[in-house]
Amino acid sequence: PRATVIDTDPGIDDAVAILFALNSPEFDIHCITTVAGNIGITTTTRNAGRILALAERPEIPVIAGAKEPLSRKGFDTADIHGNDGLGGVVFPEPAAPIAGDDAVGWLARLLDETKPGMLDILALGPLTNIARLVMDHPSSTRRIGRIVAMGGAVREPGNVGPRAEFNIAADPEAAAVVFAAGLPLTLIPLDVTRKVRATRGYITAMRKAGRPAAIASADLIDAYFHTTAGGESRPLHDPCVMLYALRPDLFGCEQLGFSVDCGAGADAGALTIDPGASRISVAKTVEGSGALTLLAERLAD
Ligand code: BDR
Ligand code: CA
Repeated sequence: PRATVIDTDPGIDDAVAILFALNSPEFDIHCITTVAGNIGITTTTRNAGRILALAERPEIPVIAGAKEPLSRKGFDTADIHGNDGLGGVVFPEPAAPIAGDDAVGWLARLLDETKPGMLDILALGPLTNIARLVMDHPSSTRRIGRIVAMGGAVREPGNVGPRAEFNIAADPEAAAVVFAAGLPLTLIPLDVTRKVRATRGYITAMRKAGRPAAIASADLIDAYFHTTAGGESRPLHDPCVMLYALRPDLFGCEQLGFSVDCGAGADAGALTIDPGASRISVAKTVEGSGALTLLAERLAD
């Protein structure tokens, strides 16, 4: 299994992604670091502990990270993820106290203790912690194996502005730092995550599987149906990060450089293809049905 850290702001789809990763033996999850995003840091951190309690994995440390973006105010997304960040779905309380409140220092130490190239980061929220890692611990950052991050809209419309996606818009300055850092980064944008969609039938099948992780995921996606518009199905954004890490062959990627809009308008966080910028790998296509099948199989197992 790959040594893996999940950096996250749970968040309904973060929770499904984490449960999926915990049920996938290919990942050896060393810790969960949290970031403010979908909701404040106290709640995202508590939610990470609640997800681990449900999965009966309280030994995995949770370390709190950035409570606000690098240099701007955070968003309020209670309308999408509920006042508790998990759509009101019932989860147990954390079974262990948090292991620390210096996520960035913890990440740097973990990278320094692990052979270069052998620790992966799966990033499901705003890139604040990762940007701080880049800025404060450049030599540790160079030891990252690979980083897969959900964020951005390349050719598709955004979800918080005409061209802006939430994770990048929540902290555009952080995204700009991370994109320019020359990291082994794959970005999973809305263009792809919108193609991995759960229907009500998918939820029913998952619930029938009967395992706690499957039932919780069914309830979480169900909550998404109530809080967001979208017709017959809903996109599973953050699980695509884990799906890519597990089965990159299900995705097609291109190498692109971006400039990030760091202004204050509706396009804050929008990405513009910039041939002069440092290139990163960006997912462009996905085999949606293969991805959905794998997700359901693992959650039901
Ligand atoms: C991203 O924003 C958050 O609300 C989701 O958890 C996901 O990480 C999608 O734009
Ligand atoms: Ca998220």
